[in-house]
Amino acid sequence: MSIAPSAKKPGFSLLKRVFTFAAPYKKKFYASLLLSVLLAVMAPLRPLLIQMTINDGIKNHTASHFINGPGGFIIEITIIQIVLLLVESACRFWFTFTTASLGQSVVKDLRITTYNKIVHLNLSQFDKTPIGTLTTRTINDIESVNDIFSDGLIPIIADMLSIISILTYMFWVDYTNHTHLTLVCLAPFPLLILATYFFKETVNKSFVTVRNAVAKLNAFVQEHITGMGLVQAFASEKREQSKFSNINKDHRNANIKAIFAYSVFFPVVELVSALSIGLLVWWAAKESYASSLLPGGNDPNAANNTAGIITSFILCLNLLFRPLRVIADKFNVLQMGMIASERVFKVIDNQDVMLNQSTYRPLTMAGSIEFKNVAFAYVEDRYVLKDISFKINAGETLAIVGHTGSGKTSVISLINRLYTINSGRIAIDDISIDEYDLDFLRSKIGVVLQDVFLFSGSVLENVTLRNNSIGREEVERAAKLIGMHDFIVQLPGGYDYKVMERGATLSLGQRQLLSFVRALLYDPSILILDEATSSVDSESEALIQNAIDKLIRGRTSIIIAHRLSTIRKADKIMVLDKGEIVEMGSHEELMRKEGAYFQLNKMQFGFNKNNQES
Ligand SMILES: Nc1ncnc2c1ncn2[C@@H]1O[C@H](COP(=O)(O)OP(=O)(O)O)[C@@H](O)[C@H]1O
Ligand SMILES: [Mg+2]
Repeated sequence: MSIAPSAKKPGFSLLKRVFTFAAPYKKKFYASLLLSVLLAVMAPLRPLLIQMTINDGIKNHTASHFINGPGGFIIEITIIQIVLLLVESACRFWFTFTTASLGQSVVKDLRITTYNKIVHLNLSQFDKTPIGTLTTRTINDIESVNDIFSDGLIPIIADMLSIISILTYMFWVDYTNHTHLTLVCLAPFPLLILATYFFKETVNKSFVTVRNAVAKLNAFVQEHITGMGLVQAFASEKREQSKFSNINKDHRNANIKAIFAYSVFFPVVELVSALSIGLLVWWAAKESYASSLLPGGNDPNAANNTAGIITSFILCLNLLFRPLRVIADKFNVLQMGMIASERVFKVIDNQDVMLNQSTYRPLTMAGSIEFKNVAFAYVEDRYVLKDISFKINAGETLAIVGHTGSGKTSVISLINRLYTINSGRIAIDDISIDEYDLDFLRSKIGVVLQDVFLFSGSVLENVTLRNNSIGREEVERAAKLIGMHDFIVQLPGGYDYKVMERGATLSLGQRQLLSFVRALLYDPSILILDEATSSVDSESEALIQNAIDKLIRGRTSIIIAHRLSTIRKADKIMVLDKGEIVEMGSHEELMRKEGAYFQLNKMQFGFNKNNQES
């Protein structure tokens, strides 16, 4: 009948689970429930007091009595009214504050839980899930969960209780006075319920569209700002603009639909409310006139009683309409919150995490590496590595060469268990990598990736990764060894120079060198290096080559090499093709063989061949 998101109503168990996150804040939770009950109990008191003022105060006392008597009934009742009003306001303040702070506390916990979950997810999960989606889960969706507490369920419960309390009072007044005014007032209510239902559905649909449009806007803007260089270089601003304006149009249209629904709904509520009051007055007048015609009627007290009841009921109707006016909104908020929480729980329930149940932490790691019949696929059955077997001894350097897509990066991603192999065995110092404590394993393996990622933060923070146990002197020493120190100190602020997001203000070569400093600081037993393919200027080239030599000294190293100079110095060279090892040996051996490596050399490094090195 309706569109998907509202058709699929998340159930009670989901709500229960959301509330388990409120468990640490039991006090706040029970306080808000208690306040709901208190507010509900107080709701009909003011109408009751008004009724008493009119019927008992004005009717039974002469004017002079209540003006002159200092302890007069009217004065007393007025004081009670004022006190009640103050108490009610205080309770309402406390209620709003408690539910909102409960929501915020839950949001804080939920966000930390979600973030921790995401951090420990298997890397393959990030190949499947767009980054924007995960961002939305941790930021926007969790914000909606807050609304369940501050604008959703608890306020709905409070409103319902108030409504029940007021209706009970009205029926009680009717019962004691032998009237049927409540039923008369409520006659137009089916109309209101119908209007509320249509309003809720329309607004809900529009909000789902608005949210989707917002998500699209976010993704679009994020992606295009990231790729702004490309957009401008290809002069495609116009095309992108029209795409952007289309998404914006969807956003506007959906919002206008919601605004339309609001514009219709509120006047309808006003109409129904006026109708109720009109019916009330009409019926009461009719009844009291009829009763005055009865034998023994014409009792002025009866008319006076009616006056008090009418006034009190008008107040009651106002108190009834106030929550009814917003209850549709609150149900929408609740529904949105539940859809959002369902999404958040999906992230939290993701079982695809790196298992870290092993505890082996040897004192030292020599660093010999052995692959035995290793097969690996990112996606089921599409093997990118087939039957890989090789061994490098501690301290040796292995260079991996091969065409793009041959599986070089994949091989190195397996050693520190970024991905899990499908079959075979990888061992370091003859112990399977599965048996090592994961944090220990990763701390002993230094990785320099092809595209260096820098966080926004200072140079110092970027190379230490905010590890406070690494001192500034240590960083400087490492930077000097790599040959980056002179460059860093001439940056504005030196080591405190703020690197922009993704390191946009540094050149590729500089970023690569910074990541060398990072790797050196962690003093790993095994070094893994995915050389950047892009050519860098000859000065950086020399710096990088020099840095690599320093880095690999005394460590087992695996280098995905594009530089002939790096490859030649390696103890072993592995040639990969379509996920299989086609050749392995030293440079001289492989050149003599005139096989795949020889061909690759001719093709890839032909222009370099005359650059004979010492
Ligand atoms: N995260 C990934 N998810 C799915 N397939 C991938 C992923 N990364 C790489 N591949 C695929 O695995 C194969 C080997 O890639 P890779 O190891 O990066 O090659 P190389 O580093 O030699 O260029 C390629 O066919 C590539 O498309
Ligand atoms: Mg690669």
